Amino acid sequence: NEIKIFSPATVANVACGFDVLGFCLDTIGDEMVIRKTSKKGIHITKIEGFDLPYEAELNVAGVSALAMYDAIQPDCGFEIEIYKNIKPGSGIGSSAASAVGSVFGMNELLGKPYNKTELTQFSIKGEALASQCEHADNLAPAIFGGFTLVKSLSPLEVLPIPSPDNLYVTIIHPQIEIKTAEARAILPKQVALQDAITQWANFGSLIHGLHTGDYGLISRSLDDVIVEPHRSKLIPYYNEVKTAALQSGALGAGISGSGPSIFTFSNGIETAKQVEIAISKVYGNTTIAFDTYVSKIN
Ligand code: HSE
Repeated sequence: NEIKIFSPATVANVACGFDVLGFCLDTIGDEMVIRKTSKKGIHITKIEGFDLPYEAELNVAGVSALAMYDAIQPDCGFEIEIYKNIKPGSGIGSSAASAVGSVFGMNELLGKPYNKTELTQFSIKGEALASQCEHADNLAPAIFGGFTLVKSLSPLEVLPIPSPDNLYVTIIHPQIEIKTAEARAILPKQVALQDAITQWANFGSLIHGLHTGDYGLISRSLDDVIVEPHRSKLIPYYNEVKTAALQSGALGAGISGSGPSIFTFSNGIETAKQVEIAISKVYGNTTIAFDTYVSKIN
């Protein structure tokens, strides 16, 4: 009547895929314990790692759990323990990991009444509490694994996209906080047609590159001409990190989700580790503290 789960970190947007593309990391994530109780309702009983609200209605994990609870109206309640490793506001899907973990765990304990798309649908409610708008580009990869493309939110349609075997990601997280809601507020409501053309050409090519394992095409398709020009201003030394990554062999780089984390892709783990060293030097020369991760996409 209890399940312990690992809820993974994710990278949303992936340069040219704002709000629709994302992928799941291998080893970085939160742990959660979900327990069935005779006391009805959703009760968050423990939170370690970061200071987050215990009231279910105010907690991302609680809100998605309540969405599922209200839908199924079970004859029991649930306790949720959250052991958070992913720092809120870091740009690697901290709120999505919380939103997904509670519904995934409850679904297992109830005998899996819901499929992955339905679980994503419930978790959108939790994610919306954090970012003040509905999007599923972190949630879908956390639930489905690998790369996912959110084709539409209404009706929710998620397409799993293959990940080439040798594709590795290096992430650097400068320890400044960027709130997703604020990083969304600075984006223009309209884009120029020429930019839209460049963006969808890149996006289609990136998806084709992922399907065919064409690392050169992936590398040539990672430009984001719509969102990055605005959000990169929020991240100190962004251009320096990107340049260092490309010079040390990365296929490309971009803002992870709404930042401040920056992701880079490499063909092979050795290059991914060289990229880690090169981009660490950029923040190493400043007063900004940072973490780095090298991961496969899983
Ligand atoms: N697609 C979202 C954004 C991801 O960039 O605002 C962050 O939650």
